[in-house]
Amino acid sequence: MENKAGNKNLHKASKAKKDEFYTQLSDIEKELKHYKEHFKDRVVYCNCDDPRVSNFFHYFSYNYEKLGLKKLITTCYKNQNMDLFSQNDSEQAICLDYEGDKNENNVPDLNEIGIKKLKGDGDFRSKECIELLKQSDIVVTNPPFSLFREYIAQLVEYEKKFVIIGNVNAISYKEIFKLIKENKIWLGISIHSGDREFGVPDDYPLTAAGYRIDENGNKFIRVKGVRWFTNLDYKERHEDLILYKRYTPEEYPTYDNYNAINVDKTKEIPMCYNGVMGVPITFLDKYNPDQFEIIGMSASAGYSEEIVGIPFLGKKDARPLLKGKNTYARIFIRNLRLQ
Ligand SMILES: C[S@@+](CC[C@H](N)C(=O)[O-])C[C@H]1O[C@@H](n2cnc3c(N)ncnc32)[C@H](O)[C@@H]1O
Repeated sequence: MENKAGNKNLHKASKAKKDEFYTQLSDIEKELKHYKEHFKDRVVYCNCDDPRVSNFFHYFSYNYEKLGLKKLITTCYKNQNMDLFSQNDSEQAICLDYEGDKNENNVPDLNEIGIKKLKGDGDFRSKECIELLKQSDIVVTNPPFSLFREYIAQLVEYEKKFVIIGNVNAISYKEIFKLIKENKIWLGISIHSGDREFGVPDDYPLTAAGYRIDENGNKFIRVKGVRWFTNLDYKERHEDLILYKRYTPEEYPTYDNYNAINVDKTKEIPMCYNGVMGVPITFLDKYNPDQFEIIGMSASAGYSEEIVGIPFLGKKDARPLLKGKNTYARIFIRNLRLQ
């Protein structure tokens, strides 16, 4: 019979496993190649990364000289491989320091990597990890999605630059949306649609569709709605979206409860409309802050002026309504070129 502690541990184990997705090297390369100039003389910190499996550690250690990094710090969370059913906590969290190739063989050798044991469990919120965060300039990783809000809040609090991968759903978290609206964070460049493959641990329960085991027995699953989130600028973000449609009140009806018109597809944003427009959340994949201003978002039933950004003219349901029917979640924008 299973005891209470056993059940609790099992629950913890399955929750922890949900956070164990390892980012593929090819996805990291496709995104980070756009930020090369930002890394020169910078200290990079990967703070959710077991160096044995993290491709972030791999990418930065192998590209250390090419990027001109000053230092690479990596910390690993101890629970990762710990047996949750035992009290065995001997596997301590570790911190790795890498300061480049010393013997000129172009490979990060073991004797070139400083390994220190951390006092605590390597939680990114712990005092010692925050000390490491303070020493760093740019944080790059795939953090646990279950702690995404807290994770971003900490980076913003310590005024760090970052490139992190997460789920598109985070856009509608009000804390995250507020940062997007204030132009403090934005989406990365390389993923705008489709799903991506992530590595999972050997004991990951593979019940879902879309998993794969490669010839070496490594397991992968496909994850939908993946996006990079960053506050490092890249030039493509300043390219205008080419608009070609003309506004007509028939094609772009005004909402019942907001003084804004509805636009169903980002590419169909009318070119000469200078009022407020409600566009799909995926508008953010094309968003150029020089062309459009984000005013707010209406995503759920609750109205908050700070998030929605325009007055609510309805009675109850705060979602955008068209002839009494709910539309999808919408971001409210205005075309800056016409103001
Ligand atoms: C989505 S995985 C990504 C792992 C790795 N960054 C990668 O992309 O391959 C998130 C990682 O964060 C670790 N983690 C979970 N909670 C954490 C915490 N509080 N502090 C630091 N790391 C944590 C998990 O063990 C897990 O390995």
